[in-house]
Parts: sequence; C-alpha cells; structure tokens
Amino acid sequence: MTRIAVTRGLPEPALRALRDSGADVWVSPDDRPLTTEELHAAVRGADAIVTLLHDRVDDALLDAAGEQLQVVANVAVGYDNVDLDAARRHGVTVTNTPGVLTAATADLAFALLLAVTRRLGEGERRIRSGEPWAWSMDFMLGRGLGGKTLGIVGYGQIGRAVAERARAFGMEIVYSDEARREEPGQVELGELLERSHAVSLHCPLTPETRHLIDADALARMRDDAYLVNTSRGPVVDEAALAAALRDGVIAGAALDVFEHEPDVHPELVGLENAVLLPHLGSATVETRTAMAELAAANALAVLAGDEPPTPIRT
Ligand code: GLV
Repeated sequence: MTRIAVTRGLPEPALRALRDSGADVWVSPDDRPLTTEELHAAVRGADAIVTLLHDRVDDALLDAAGEQLQVVANVAVGYDNVDLDAARRHGVTVTNTPGVLTAATADLAFALLLAVTRRLGEGERRIRSGEPWAWSMDFMLGRGLGGKTLGIVGYGQIGRAVAERARAFGMEIVYSDEARREEPGQVELGELLERSHAVSLHCPLTPETRHLIDADALARMRDDAYLVNTSRGPVVDEAALAAALRDGVIAGAALDVFEHEPDVHPELVGLENAVLLPHLGSATVETRTAMAELAAANALAVLAGDEPPTPIRT
C-alpha cells in the first residue's frame, strides 16, 4: 500500500485529499518540528513525504525513507531546507508551493514597511506600558512613503507583488535580481542599497545570498533607510543589523524571519527601531490551506505518475 508521511498537522482539506487517494497517511501527532531521529523514523517506507520548512531533507533523511520514496512535497515556497542534489541522487522529485502565498507574503512585507516607518510597534508598546502620552506636533513622528524609493532584492512573484503595492503608495521601484535583467528598474545591488529609502528582501536563501546584507551592505544604505525581511533570516547578518540599528547606520528594520529561528538576536529585542514578527508571511487561513492543498496535489500527482503542478526544476 502507498504510504504518505506528513511531518506535521496540515489544514483538513489537504489531509482529506491525501486520505481520499486510498494511501496509508501518517500525520505527526505532535504540533512541533520532529527531531531528526523522529523524522527519520517517521519517513521509513514512505512513497511520499509532505515536509514543512523546518524539516531538513538531506541524504540521511532520503536514505532513512528508502528506495521506494518518489516525492518530497515541501509546504513552502522556499526550499533551502531541501538538499536538491541529494534528492537528484536519490531520484526523488521535490515540489514547493509558489503562487498561492504571493499576496499574503507581499501584504505582510508591506505591513512591516508601514509598521516600521510609522512606528506602530513602538506606539503600541507606549500605550500598553501605561506611561502617560499626549498628542503634540512632534510626538512619535515617522516617515512617509510617497515619492520615496523602494529597493526590492529578488524580483520574483513576491517581489513584484510588493512593487505593485508600493506603486499604489506613490513609491518608485528599483530592483536587483541576477535572473531578471531585462526589465526597467534593474540596478546593481550596491546602487540599490545606496538609493533606496527602504529595502525589501525577496530572494531565496542560497550560498550566494547568505549574509547578503552584512555590515558592509548596511553601511552602503542611507542613514534614514529601512530594511524589511520576509525572505529567510540568514540573508541578513543579524548581529551586524543589530549593531547598525543601535548605531544609527540605518533608521529601522522590520523582520519576519531570523537567522536562528525561532531564536532572535537578543540585542534586536531591546531596540525600538526594530519591528519583529514570528514568521507570519503566509499566515492566513486561506493561504495556509491553499499551500497545504497544493503540496498534497503535488505529492499525489507524482504518485500517480503525472507531472506535479509545481515541481522544483533541478
Ligand atoms: C515561508 O516562509 C515559505 O517559504 O513558504
């Protein structure tokens, strides 16, 4: 009998689709990432594995699963948790969930941009602290977005969706993306950092983008600029960012992802000019359901011998 291992609970419609296929579906009963040992035990004998972004998919996991494994369906657009070379060596198809989370993630990136430029977290903390406050002409002034330049690093579906939102707010767009040089607005990363009033990161995490935003990159940014990260934490050198925020090298940062998730650099937590969210980019009921359903459709298509809707081309 076909066996599908799901490493953590998913929205019911996706589990129903998997079960309706007639497969034997195992779903982790624990609402937490499995340990490596638990993960390897859980996937033994699976023909398909549905993974979450915190699951490390490497040679060891693929060996633990066994030779019958056909597909790893990752419930995320990012797939830095998957060793694609190992998957290729094992003849295993890998899929992700692009498209269905574009709007939710772009919305959150823009919410973060507004939150950091208009000091929303700081204002909330101020009221909840009970400390007296009063309206005045210069009380808690932020910065407006109209007429400013937004630099988008990584101009895929989410980067473009953020650009669309930014244009509606009257912003100019520049972007850097090695893979998309043909369109107007493309600049080198260095120029983007120097020109932009806000920089939003939408590139995948790869060896090339790890610490793309380091102390040197931060030093190239304007001192009144803001950084937004909804991509992957390690794209930013978090210690360098904390120092830059503390020393006024840039004006503020809004982060949905962290270098050592779920840990957050302790210095960031104490900084008023940092907005911090616990990886909520795709976290709407509709989007998470659509992601899980797409991952299920990917797994079932491969098991049926069909082309999956969203394979990762390796
Ligand atoms: C979330 O971070 C994703 O990659 O889908």
